[in-house]
Amino acid sequence: MDEKRKLTNEVGAPVADNEHSITAGSRGPVVMHDVWLQEKMAHFNREVIPERRMHAKGWGAYGSLTVTGDISKYTRAKVLQPGKKTDLFIRFSTVAGERGAADAERDIRGVACKFYTEEGNWDLVGNNTPTFFIRDVHNFSDLNRAVKRDPRTGVRSAQNNWDFWTLLPEAFHQITIVMSDRGIPASFRHMHFFGEHTFAFYNEKNERVWCKFHFHTQQGIRNLTDEEAEKLCGQDRESHGKDLFEAIERGDCPRWTMYVQIMTEEQAKNHYENPFDITKIWRHREFPLIEVGVLELNRNPENYFAEVEQSAFAPAHVVPGIGFSPDKFLQGRLFAYGDAQRYRLGINHNQIPVNRAKCEVNDYHRDGAMRVDGNYGAAPAYTPNSADVWSPQPEVTEPPLDLEGAMYRFDPKDDPTDDNFRAGGNLYRLMTEDKRKLLIENTARNIAPVTHNVKYRHAVHCFLADGEYGERITKAMELDFAKVKELAKLDNAGLIEATRNP
Ligand code: HEM
Repeated sequence: MDEKRKLTNEVGAPVADNEHSITAGSRGPVVMHDVWLQEKMAHFNREVIPERRMHAKGWGAYGSLTVTGDISKYTRAKVLQPGKKTDLFIRFSTVAGERGAADAERDIRGVACKFYTEEGNWDLVGNNTPTFFIRDVHNFSDLNRAVKRDPRTGVRSAQNNWDFWTLLPEAFHQITIVMSDRGIPASFRHMHFFGEHTFAFYNEKNERVWCKFHFHTQQGIRNLTDEEAEKLCGQDRESHGKDLFEAIERGDCPRWTMYVQIMTEEQAKNHYENPFDITKIWRHREFPLIEVGVLELNRNPENYFAEVEQSAFAPAHVVPGIGFSPDKFLQGRLFAYGDAQRYRLGINHNQIPVNRAKCEVNDYHRDGAMRVDGNYGAAPAYTPNSADVWSPQPEVTEPPLDLEGAMYRFDPKDDPTDDNFRAGGNLYRLMTEDKRKLLIENTARNIAPVTHNVKYRHAVHCFLADGEYGERITKAMELDFAKVKELAKLDNAGLIEATRNP
């Protein structure tokens, strides 16, 4: 038989029989002697690895980014220079559902991009919304506990979800997006995605600007209604994954146009709200989209576990020319991902082929479980070393950033420029009547099982964003509008106190 078709054990020795255990007598018990059976069972028992704490359900594909614009005056990043084409891998995900959850749920979608640049991997780990629910890292684990399963019942709880969301008014804009027509994308191909945070660019002269990343689908936006999604989930839990895989297989390669928004350091100092607050957006009319290039997905992975499940993205992975901003929320992410992956996949997870950089990696990290790349052989293990091996490159040092103020636990709500309802109100006013109607209906359906006090909190937030939005949602939730208007006179602490009891 062809060598390649021969069954072997894990160290290459031929296996004689893969269906009949070795037993003592034809009707007798299995014996330890069947080492192939032991190996087979023991491996199977250990095949499941921890799922991602959130974004557990996901699908991936390979492709490229081709730069068609010219933003070289803002960034020195080689991946973003005119004409450059860079290979990439993307993993799309839902957030709240576990690894076996249905795709077509009302939820935000994660979009994690790994650009294999010549200067190292750049991971842009974003979502399909330009903003986020919360802005302090402290709230992140709680957000996920509120949207995931209730500790007592083990089922997801609309009460927990809405209670948490409405106690944090900064979530309002994101809630409006999630409850809108865009809350259930028809597929990953038919949605935009965003880096969300403010990042930094710096150029060859080490001049810094702030930037935001946007990717607009060239397939057009397509969404599902609650009714369509409910039906689909009943028929096919993998609708997004199949759609992406089949489109790429038939050569219908999805594309997104990449844009950036740019804000100078001076503009940031004078901006009317905190430009580093992820719950805020930069309005396009003030900070226009600048076209950068085209992102295309054109190759499916060969193996789901090896390439999609084992992929690992970290916002900490940037390349020269791209940096972080003082966004407090981004700072927390810089730690969290690598930490989670060291647990989920192990300390050497960046050697897994899908995660491995395409350029040379010389980091001095040694040893650790599952080190499989030769461990740098006899090269020095310390730095500085007289052999002058793998020296730091000061020319990629980021420009200095001026900071000011005392070390303290600041509450953004104490900032007089902080307005949590402006963006959600603007979004409502931008919507056509059919979209407003969907938003109101989706919200009313989603919040229906929740107690009245929490519904009042949300109605007040809607009213503070836009009078009509408040009035319509109040009616749809069958609440008293006079009471909503009275509650709206309270400050946030007063509103929480007045709506504490169901
Ligand atoms: C402080 C806030 C946040 C923390 C602590 C956090 C933490 C995490 C962790 C621990 C994972 C699992 C990583 C893994 O096991 O590989 C994850 C996944 C993910 N997060 Fe976050 N996250 C935060 C906010 C955000 C935001 C604002 C976005 C979008 C802009 C985002 C997008 C994603 C995506 C897309 C994934 C899935 C990555 C993949 O496909 O492997 N996260 N997050």
